[in-house]
Amino acid sequence: MGVMIMSAGFLLSFEGSEGCGKSTQIRLLRERLEKTGRKVEVLREPGGTEIGESIRHLLQHAKEGHAMTSETELLLFAASRAQIVREKIRPLVESGAWVILDRFLDSTTVYQGYSRGLPMDAVNAINQFATGGTLPQLTVLLDLDVQKAWQRIHATGRELDRMESQPTEFFEKVRQGYLSLAQAEPQRFRVVDASQSPEVVHEQIWSLLPA
Ligand code: TMP
Repeated sequence: MGVMIMSAGFLLSFEGSEGCGKSTQIRLLRERLEKTGRKVEVLREPGGTEIGESIRHLLQHAKEGHAMTSETELLLFAASRAQIVREKIRPLVESGAWVILDRFLDSTTVYQGYSRGLPMDAVNAINQFATGGTLPQLTVLLDLDVQKAWQRIHATGRELDRMESQPTEFFEKVRQGYLSLAQAEPQRFRVVDASQSPEVVHEQIWSLLPA
């Protein structure tokens, strides 16, 4: 039997509340990884597939979204994830790509579990079903004080979407939820202080990656 040699792919997720600088950091990391000749794919949650983008629209912008129950919200995020895991993530990692996930299952644990208060055993079981056990090798949590995050969001001057229109206490729970998760799974999570300059944050993230 022949031995198949394949360059190893890598699965990395970014997590953090709105305004933590996730998009900027993902862009900086993608550019630097590409310069080293790696194949890089950034996937956005919810979305990243045609089915997922329709679900994203329903969750964030559609008029009917305002009547959505928390249970429905959880299942829609999970549905989008079930699709992207099988349609994109697994094949890409198997082909040797570096896959950067802009949010993954931890967003559900934190937003629908900790913040919306849905039962954690249900959230965990649904996450497990949706991912089929596919977990990132590394999860970078960009941690930022809620007030600072709001200042950043308001500085952009754009209109807030459905999730961003939640009260401040919701985002306090988001932050604390993420920090508890990171503590519970220290082998997978790395917490980076997102109040630092984008360049410093980027260097810290870079130093966390396998050579
Ligand atoms: P983003 O474009 O800022 O990442 O927006 C995605 C929004 O959806 C954000 O408010 C977090 C929320 N979200 C959840 O509530 N649960 C999830 O599972 C995911 C992936 C996102």
